[in-house]
Amino acid sequence: MAILLRHVRFIAMALALAFIVVASAPTRAQHVNPTADAVKEEQLLGELKRITGECTIPDQKACTLEQPAGRDWRHFHGVTLPWIGAIAILGMIALVVVFYLVIGTVRMSPGRTGRLMLRFSAFERFAHWMAAVCFIILGLTGLNITFGKQLILPLIGPEAFSTISLWGKYAHNFLSFPFTLSVVLIGVVWLRANLPSRVDIEWAMQGGGFIGDKHPPADLFNAGQKMVYWGVVLGGGLVAATGYLLMFPFYGTEILGMQLAEIVHAVVALLLIALIIFHVYMGSVGEEGAFEAMWDGTVDETWAKQHHSIWYDREISKGNVPKPAPAGEVHPAVGTAHAAE
Ligand code: HEM
Repeated sequence: MAILLRHVRFIAMALALAFIVVASAPTRAQHVNPTADAVKEEQLLGELKRITGECTIPDQKACTLEQPAGRDWRHFHGVTLPWIGAIAILGMIALVVVFYLVIGTVRMSPGRTGRLMLRFSAFERFAHWMAAVCFIILGLTGLNITFGKQLILPLIGPEAFSTISLWGKYAHNFLSFPFTLSVVLIGVVWLRANLPSRVDIEWAMQGGGFIGDKHPPADLFNAGQKMVYWGVVLGGGLVAATGYLLMFPFYGTEILGMQLAEIVHAVVALLLIALIIFHVYMGSVGEEGAFEAMWDGTVDETWAKQHHSIWYDREISKGNVPKPAPAGEVHPAVGTAHAAE
């Protein structure tokens, strides 16, 4: 009898164990079945457009895995932004080439006098070149952040790409400070000379004197230069402000604010790069004698009369008459030399 009871107990326990295993098997299978999970995520995404869970780490933002604005942002960054950049930058390079082929270098007419006028002080030139050096490095390293993975990584491989990207990121972060300072300095020292005036309308209506031989009057800066100034001050200011939001993430911003800051930073920076490409062309190859103004601060009297007649007349009336160039002085601008008197 005791043996029979022991057998019955053994069979009952075995059955109970088998029941537990069978009952728990489908649940375990459901947990680890990746396809079933994916189906649930698809459903969640379809219904809620976001996947959010619970997490125990302090940063609750990490609990949201997907959300509609995130997908929109990813599409903007991966598709729209490269298009904006390609159209703005390649379009501007094409425009500059067309400009050069059709109009060429605007020459000084009727030739240099060899007498020089002071156009920019050492301080103005310092502010300008600080902006220029910082901007070029910020622009190149920023372009690497946006396009480097598609354009440079396949050419130089992962090792070299990660090295230049790391140093590029340091440069991009640290040069933002002197660049911001230079934008403030430029904004302050040239503010008065860049306020809009009636002369600008006349200058613009005459196409800036690029077509034909007639040069419309202009003060220290013409309407085109004023556009560059405001582009640098407003655009540069916006790029700097949004850049600091990105550099110190989530200080006063949420995810949406960060995404907006990134979009504004990237779009304005790309447009500014396009504007500066044109500016660099005009300040060097595009106009004979312009580069000297920013290099040693002086311009030839002919250039001053030709391009900035209102400014020239005022300087003369103030007694700032042009002085003969030092003998043998050679300017770096397109390899031309001042004729010594
Ligand atoms: C290496 C490139 C550059 C060259 C060769 C260059 C050249 C020049 C020259 C020659 C002028 C004086 C024009 C005149 O006397 O009327 C000038 C002015 C100016 N530059 Fe540049 N520049 C360069 C880069 C930059 C950059 C990167 C910025 C700003 C981010 C900038 C901002 C300005 C501004 C605001 C002015 C005054 C307005 C104007 O003349 O358009 N420049 N530049």
